[in-house]
Amino acid sequence: MKRLFATEKLGGRVLYRFQAIRVFVGICLVLYYRATHIPADGTTGRAAWLGMVAAEVWFGFYWVLMQSGRWYPIRRRTFKDRLADRFGERLPCVDIFVCTADPKSEPPNLVISTVLSVMAYNYPAEKLNVYLSDDGGSILTFYALWEASLFAKHWLPFCKTYKVEPRSPAAYFSETDKRRDDLHTLKEWSFVKGLYEEMTKRIDSAVVSGKIPEEMKAKHKGFSEWNSEMTPKNHQPILQILIDGKHINANDREVNVLPTLVYMAREKRPQYHHNFKAGAMNALIRVSSVISNSPIIMNVDCDMYSNNSDSIRDALCFFLDEEMGHKIGFVQYPQTYNNVTKNDIYDNSLRVINQDLSGFDSVGGPLYCGSGCFHRREILCGRRYTQEYKEDWDRGIKRKTQVNIYQTEEKAKSLATCAYEYKTQWGNEIGLKYGCPAEDIITGLAIHCRGWESVFMSPSRAAFIGVGPTTLAQTILQHKRWSEGNFSIFLSKYCPFFFGHGNIRLLHQMAYSIPGLWAPNSLPTLYYVIIPSLGLLKSTPLFPEIMSPWVIPFLYVSSVENMYNLYEALLSRETLKGWWNGQRMWIIKRITSYLYGVIDTIRNLVGLSKMGFAVTSKVSNKDEWKRYEQEIMEFGSSSPEYVIIATVALLNHVCLVGGLCQIITGTWHMALNIFFLQVILCGVLVIINIPIYEAMFLRKDTGRIPFSVTLASIGFVILIVALFVPII
Ligand SMILES: *[C@@H]1O[C@H](CO)[C@@H](O)[C@H](O)[C@H]1NC(C)=O
Ligand SMILES: *[C@@H]1O[C@H](CO)[C@@H](O)[C@H](O)[C@H]1NC(C)=O
Repeated sequence: MKRLFATEKLGGRVLYRFQAIRVFVGICLVLYYRATHIPADGTTGRAAWLGMVAAEVWFGFYWVLMQSGRWYPIRRRTFKDRLADRFGERLPCVDIFVCTADPKSEPPNLVISTVLSVMAYNYPAEKLNVYLSDDGGSILTFYALWEASLFAKHWLPFCKTYKVEPRSPAAYFSETDKRRDDLHTLKEWSFVKGLYEEMTKRIDSAVVSGKIPEEMKAKHKGFSEWNSEMTPKNHQPILQILIDGKHINANDREVNVLPTLVYMAREKRPQYHHNFKAGAMNALIRVSSVISNSPIIMNVDCDMYSNNSDSIRDALCFFLDEEMGHKIGFVQYPQTYNNVTKNDIYDNSLRVINQDLSGFDSVGGPLYCGSGCFHRREILCGRRYTQEYKEDWDRGIKRKTQVNIYQTEEKAKSLATCAYEYKTQWGNEIGLKYGCPAEDIITGLAIHCRGWESVFMSPSRAAFIGVGPTTLAQTILQHKRWSEGNFSIFLSKYCPFFFGHGNIRLLHQMAYSIPGLWAPNSLPTLYYVIIPSLGLLKSTPLFPEIMSPWVIPFLYVSSVENMYNLYEALLSRETLKGWWNGQRMWIIKRITSYLYGVIDTIRNLVGLSKMGFAVTSKVSNKDEWKRYEQEIMEFGSSSPEYVIIATVALLNHVCLVGGLCQIITGTWHMALNIFFLQVILCGVLVIINIPIYEAMFLRKDTGRIPFSVTLASIGFVILIVALFVPII
């Protein structure tokens, strides 16, 4: 029987491995040189030298880890036509979970665009069930969803008739060139667009006033759940089936069925910990089990709309494949952001992360990233992989028309209470795991350890598109959260090398450690961008001189790694400038986000601060937006991370100028020869930091680095030079 998906090896791997072996030899030579040329005891520079050894040992170790994903990369391709031939309409039911947490940072209009985009999948509507979990418990979100359930009656047939793409109305109507010329279509188009605009206006005005008009409230019983005593942190479970796909009133204009649509706000009480998104997901798993109980669950964040109406069919090609499908536990799609500018100033395209994930596919499967992922329901409920296990693809609730929708709602509500999980395995053996900000990663790890594989599906047309960060502060915060979550997993009992030992392959353990060790990368990087430059100022040599053969491995390793990086960037259609911006962000993320990640993880470990979770804000003001489009870096506020960035930039400038002056005037009797590599390193850092100097001294707009930050960084530079130069 023909396979439903193909696995293709990426070309050029022999070349890559050959290259990697040479780089490995280079790294060994560098370390050998370091070990055999340690300055004598008592000389200046010995401590600095030992620090260099430590940093390079770390970089070498991390480089080895990274090879787990680069050694054997593969790509997956699906055959949806074969799926259609073989299964026709006998496809399994699918439950889709959309999670939202806060109506302020995730506006209701954004949420319903996502909901509508997943309702409009090219999939039999009676087999599709969409659940919205609203952890903000907001009547505004409920109201918006109710409006969406009415609009869906027009939107879904429109999408299906005209094969509209993408199926998020917000994304679709923002592209004006999508208009058709023929008159009938045009009329239809304007009609639906009009309906959509009226709806968003009504929702926006409700959001602005914070109130739902009384006449609206009268139209749906669900509104009566809210009263004046309710707060987002203290309320009863709310559950409303807005569209019951199986029967009653769910018929749209053209007498097609609509997907089931459910609103859930699980119970919140101050005395119970709500476990963030993992808690919401677990409540949804239970609630959906009495409403639809589909064998496949897909979950997506509320800010990631579906950009490809065939994603379900793509994912099913893996699960339903007769030969390999039974091993596959989940299918992960990459995260893609719109709002990434041409030269991607904050390196938000996540190209490197997605490339890593795709590399993991061959060693056991990508990590579960928490959004854009299809799971088997059974594996989320803790099932182990066994050869005998046969999925019942026909399962799902087939309710009789007479069953009272009210009874179903009441039953589902009882599963969304705070007390339900008390003394159960939920959050531990069953469902998503609790107790860590990166609950998705450990959940995925546990699934892999139970014997399942996963698949990374990265079609050329993005399956899910989210709103990326558009300011430096947001990017830094996002990466801090990611690195901190992953590092705390690495230090916990879920450390891939221990938890995975004997359960997953060593290469897979290494792959899991790559994000796990993002955060500690900060320390050697910080060392490398500061100490060699100070050494230049103080005329302490830390690298071999240019005439020595030892210089070759240093130059070889650094240039080959950077060239490879550049090659990959250009291959994935990044611009040269985009790559360069990525290098700057590489340093900035490491010396800020990752450093904070280390500090906060350690503070958590010793119990200094409680675990918190910051929702990244999705909106920015007009000026910021304009600067973002012009690709000017946004600072503006005086936060401590900007002081770090400015201090490092300034310090390198001072060291370069100071060092070069000494070389030229020759007062220290030294030649360029000895300090060649240090001059290069410091020089590259200065060039890369040009936008930082501009933001400190040249720019006049509100997004510049505030004067207080500049002042503080000047102070720190003076302090560092005064304190450290004597001891290096
Ligand atoms: C993202 O980009 C779209 C158009 O490209 C724009 O309309 C929207 O406001 C942007 N969103 C944010 C949050 O920046
Ligand atoms: C999203 O889908 C549209 C087609 O509807 C496509 O043109 C576009 O390239 C897709 N976006 C990405 C980032 O792949």
